[in-house]
Amino acid sequence: MKFIATDVLDNREKMTAMASAQLDKQGFAIDPYFYRSHVTYEAELEHIIFKSWLYAGHISQIAKNGDYFLFDIGEDSIIISRDNNGQIGAMHNICRHRGARVCEEPSGNRKAFICPYHGWAYGNDGHLKSAREMDQLEGFKCENYALKKVRFVVFQGMIFINCDPDAADFVAPLENISRQLGAYDLENAKIAERKTYRINANWKLVLENYLECYHCSSSHRQYAKLHTLEAPSEKVKPINQAMWARAEELTGVPGIADEYYGYYNDAAAFGACSYTSRYALYEGFKTGSRDGEPVAPLMGNMQGYDGGAGDFQMGPLTFMLNYPDHCVLYRFIPRSLTETDMELVWYVNGDAVEGTDYDAEKVAWLWHHTSLEDEYIIMRNSEGVNSRFFEPGPYHPEYESTLMEFISWYLKTLSSV
Ligand code: FES
Ligand SMILES: [Fe+2]
Repeated sequence: MKFIATDVLDNREKMTAMASAQLDKQGFAIDPYFYRSHVTYEAELEHIIFKSWLYAGHISQIAKNGDYFLFDIGEDSIIISRDNNGQIGAMHNICRHRGARVCEEPSGNRKAFICPYHGWAYGNDGHLKSAREMDQLEGFKCENYALKKVRFVVFQGMIFINCDPDAADFVAPLENISRQLGAYDLENAKIAERKTYRINANWKLVLENYLECYHCSSSHRQYAKLHTLEAPSEKVKPINQAMWARAEELTGVPGIADEYYGYYNDAAAFGACSYTSRYALYEGFKTGSRDGEPVAPLMGNMQGYDGGAGDFQMGPLTFMLNYPDHCVLYRFIPRSLTETDMELVWYVNGDAVEGTDYDAEKVAWLWHHTSLEDEYIIMRNSEGVNSRFFEPGPYHPEYESTLMEFISWYLKTLSSV
């Protein structure tokens, strides 16, 4: 963790005033204050992160009764489990006695979660089974002390959680992209590889970097060779139009290239973004691999290669880039003011056999390589942005337009807390 100087006089009033003032400077990168302020980080957790729908994992990670995995957000930890009756649940990993973590191992199979501190025992559905010697306390009832539940939904095999009990529904916004996403049959897909990159930078810098492709041609040579997103849209319009014209026929999926924009300010509800579009790869490339050749069997209902890739967003911090033969999920999670977990999950067809049908290293090569490049540039960005001498410059009107959308939503949220 990188420690940065703290302004001890910082407070919520200053933060909301800074956010309102920054809203008047739209089109420009934001003040270093937002990356350095502990007050802001705390407000972000409270008003953005813990009120948003976040990808927690895939149902294949809890295939059997008793399977569970942990999802760490900020300083928090959430248990996602499948109980003895096969029901999925999400709960806070915080003992109802004096608050110890009840589970340390990041994943596994448990009939019960036994708190390591004083031994309270919880079932794998979170109910308190026993609390050692607590019968001495008059009126104590185990049923009053279940692990606190977290809201979740399962959509096409992906588990999303929201720590806000009053959060708006997420399934309806996701339905707007279900046809395009459904083509990959993620429910029956398999995780070929999963990597967490701990980036020593504020979460917004990591997300901002994902939201723009202005840096693609200068920072990602390999990616830029394959993907037209690196170029201004007008320049690659004919390539995209040709791909859109053949997409349905070659993939066999009706409406696969239909766009839907419902993110940030335009989301159906707060923290419930959903978005999809399809963009072309340069001629001669079929998929996002080292040489543009397939690295796994076709996903789900896909019947062929159209030279396109599906771009998706699910919630403010989760994205997918889906090729006909594999899908790459990106999730950004703050862990402290200056640390972010960037999680990548590579999915392949559920019937594909490792070693025979695919090589996990080959499937992951392009985006692992690209992520390491991103890590490098984000850290350089963080160094400069954290300087008191940084004067924010203008965003590119097209390349950085989605990033501007995020910033505007972010500032509006902060200015009204
Ligand atoms: S804190 Fe868990 S049993 Fe005491
Ligand atoms: Fe990048």
